[in-house]
Amino acid sequence: MAADTASMATAIRRVVRTVAIETLGVRDVGGDDDLQRLGLDSLIATILAVSLQEELGIHVPLAVVLEHPVVDDLVRVIQDGDDRAPTSTEVRLDYNESPIGPPPRAVAELRERAGDLHRYPRDLEPEVTREVAAHFGVDPGDVLLTNGVDEAVDLLLHDVAEIWTVAPGFDGYAQRAAVHDRAVHTIPLDDRWQPVAPPLAFAGSRAVFLAQPNNPTGNLFPRAWVEEVTAVADLVFLDETYLEFSDSPSFAPLLRSRPNLVLFKSFSKAFGLAGARLGALVGATQRIAPLRERRAFYSVDSLSLASVAGALADADHRAELKRHMAGARTAYLDALRSSEVFAEVRDTQTNFLLARCPTPQHSAAVTDRLAQQGVRVRRCADFGLPQWIRVSIGSYEALDALSNALARLRLP
Ligand SMILES: Cc1ncc(COP(=O)(O)O)c(C=O)c1O
Repeated sequence: MAADTASMATAIRRVVRTVAIETLGVRDVGGDDDLQRLGLDSLIATILAVSLQEELGIHVPLAVVLEHPVVDDLVRVIQDGDDRAPTSTEVRLDYNESPIGPPPRAVAELRERAGDLHRYPRDLEPEVTREVAAHFGVDPGDVLLTNGVDEAVDLLLHDVAEIWTVAPGFDGYAQRAAVHDRAVHTIPLDDRWQPVAPPLAFAGSRAVFLAQPNNPTGNLFPRAWVEEVTAVADLVFLDETYLEFSDSPSFAPLLRSRPNLVLFKSFSKAFGLAGARLGALVGATQRIAPLRERRAFYSVDSLSLASVAGALADADHRAELKRHMAGARTAYLDALRSSEVFAEVRDTQTNFLLARCPTPQHSAAVTDRLAQQGVRVRRCADFGLPQWIRVSIGSYEALDALSNALARLRLP
C-alpha cells in the first residue's frame, strides 16, 4: 500500500471510530466490526458522511455508508470505489433536496446531543416545539411535531371519511388515504395549473388537502380561492413545504380565525434536513390537542429534534441557500431552454423547474437516458403529467453534469 493510501485509510478509520464512539455508545471499533450490528441507522450514517466530508473533504454517499457497514469494507470502498454502483458520482435532481448540504449548526447540534441517545426525548421535544412555534410566530400549543408529512396526514385522516385534492398534485396525500381506505376525489386544474372548481364546491363536511406552492406543478393557487375554501370546508390541510422558495406569505395569520385550517411545515427543503424526517402540523390549539393524544409514543426521535433545533438557529445557512437558489435558478432555466430537448420550460415558485417534452415517449426516453449518464430527474407521469419532467435546482456541479448529459442525448 502506498504511503498516501495508508495514511488516508488511517484518517478514514479515525473519523469512523470517533463517530462510532460518539453516536453508538461503544468503547472502540475494529476493522471487523459491523456498524449496523452496533446500531448504525440512517441518521448516524448521515453524521458519518458529513464528518468525512468536513474533516477529510471526501464525499461519501449515504447509500455507500449504509451498504458497507463493516469498518474495513467501508474504508476500502471509500478509497477504491464501489465496483457495483456509480452512486458516488450520481447526480440527484429528482427529490428537491438542498444542494448545499445540511446546516452546519444542525450537524453541530447532533454531535452535541449524541451523548443523550440513551434517553427518550422527554425535554427535547417540548423545547424544540417551542422553538418551532417561535420561528413560525404561533403558540407552542398550536404545534405538533411529526415524523414527516406522512404522519401528519395519517393523524388527520383518522377523522375524515374521504378527501379532496388537486390533480396534478402531490401524490402523498392520496397514498396515505389509500392506506387508510379513504376515498380520494380530484380537484382538476386547468392548463395553467389553476383550480377550476369554485370554492363553494367544498362546502360542508369536506376535507381538502392542498400544497401551496403545489408539487409537481410548482405554482401558487390564488390566495382568495384558498381563503374561500377555508371559509366553507370542514378541514383544510395546507402544505407549505415549498413556501420559503416562493414570494407568498404563509397562511399562518389565518389560523386565528379558522380553526378548520391546519398547516404543514417541512424541514426537508428550505431547512436542508430531508434525512431528519421531521415536520410540524400547525393549527388552533383545540384542533392540535387531540392529534397530540393520538400520536405514537415519541414518534419523533432525538437526533431529528436536535438537527431541527440547530437548523432553526442557522439563519446564515438559510440565507446561503436563498442566494444559491437565486443564481442557480437562472442558470438551470438557461441550460434547460438552450438544450433544445424540451418544447417548453416553466419557472416555478419552488426549488424545482418543469420541462415539457414533445410526447410522453420522449419524456420517458429523456429520463432514462439521463439516468444512464448518472443524472436523475423526475418524470411526472405518475403525477398525471406524462410529457413533463421535474428538475430540482441543484449545485453548479450538478448543472454541468446535466448540461453535458443533455448535450449527449441521442433521441429517436
Ligand atoms: C408537497 C410536499 N409535501 C411534503 C413533502 C415531504 O415532506 P417531508 O419530507 O417533510 O415528509 C414533499 C416532498 O417532496 C412534497 O412535495
